[in-house]
Amino acid sequence: AEEEEEEPSSRFKKLISTLPKVKGSNDFMDLYQYQGFWYPFAMLQAIISTQENFKSSWNDIYVCSAPKTGCTWLKALCYAIVTRDHFNMENSPLLTNLPHVLIPSLEFDSPENHSSMKAQNIPLIATHIPFDALPKSVQSLDGTKMIYLCREPKDTFISLWHFMQRFTWLHQGNSDETTELLISFEEGFELFCEGKTMWGPYWDHVLGYWKQSLVKPESLLFLNYEELTKDTLFYVRKLAEFMGKPFSRDEEGEGLPERIVKLCSFDNLSNLEVIKNGKDWPISSLQIDNSAYFRKGKPGDWKNHLTENMIERMDHITKEKLRGSNFKF
Ligand code: A3P
Repeated sequence: AEEEEEEPSSRFKKLISTLPKVKGSNDFMDLYQYQGFWYPFAMLQAIISTQENFKSSWNDIYVCSAPKTGCTWLKALCYAIVTRDHFNMENSPLLTNLPHVLIPSLEFDSPENHSSMKAQNIPLIATHIPFDALPKSVQSLDGTKMIYLCREPKDTFISLWHFMQRFTWLHQGNSDETTELLISFEEGFELFCEGKTMWGPYWDHVLGYWKQSLVKPESLLFLNYEELTKDTLFYVRKLAEFMGKPFSRDEEGEGLPERIVKLCSFDNLSNLEVIKNGKDWPISSLQIDNSAYFRKGKPGDWKNHLTENMIERMDHITKEKLRGSNFKF
């Protein structure tokens, strides 16, 4: 029996030793390439186990995205829409929690956490896993729905780089935290261009979901951050309809869609006490302030950070990657 218990970890170690690797600033941040995508060591084992063991339920709604495309916002919007019968805008758990802790994650949270949400009738599950790497039952989109959010690649990189600067690393055995500058801006840019980022290559992540949205548009709603910013109200109504909970005439009359937009707005959420001072979503030994999920919240910040060469380089990669896909950012 002992041998059986040891098996998954030794199987994992064996697997890891065969995978291409990019060195991170500590072992947990090393990236490993598995089935064409790069994953941090800290999460790879959980991702593989999810792939092999997770079974979807018929009414699950998956909130999917690559990191830093605005999923904190999308999670808040979906949560507010789905739970609007239980909470009003004055007592919503969104006022006292980081949106990430309100929606379980396929790869970060335990199955018990998933079932406790289901017990509350909240069908949302978040994930960063690329479409082609999802558990088979999730991929089949059989009775389940999926919402995917993407973002202009240059902005996604800028957001990611700033976010990485905010990680602190909890040393094992004591609670001292040290902040480490993980990589320089130039190195980070290079790695992003090469596709070597968490859950990257970024473009492949987007295209995987995009292709699926063409095959099953009724089951996969494909959104982008820029459009969501331009007309949030339109997308709040669209999300509600897509999730099978369109706003009633009475709700429209009460201005509920508008109030959800306001509740989840960058200004409102980023000024909450829990966001300004909380630290609620540790992943393994990595710690991050809640405020790190709220930086500028606007499209186009790449213009303030990238050189002409960098812009040209990334736009060229984007053009090449999207060639023949019929997709545009
Ligand atoms: P910036 O770094 O460009 O400001 P994710 O939630 O996927 O980690 O992505 C984070 C990005 O979404 C950050 O972008 C963050 O500021 C932005 N964001 C977070 N909450 C938002 C909101 N309510 N409205 C608009 N943008 C938001």
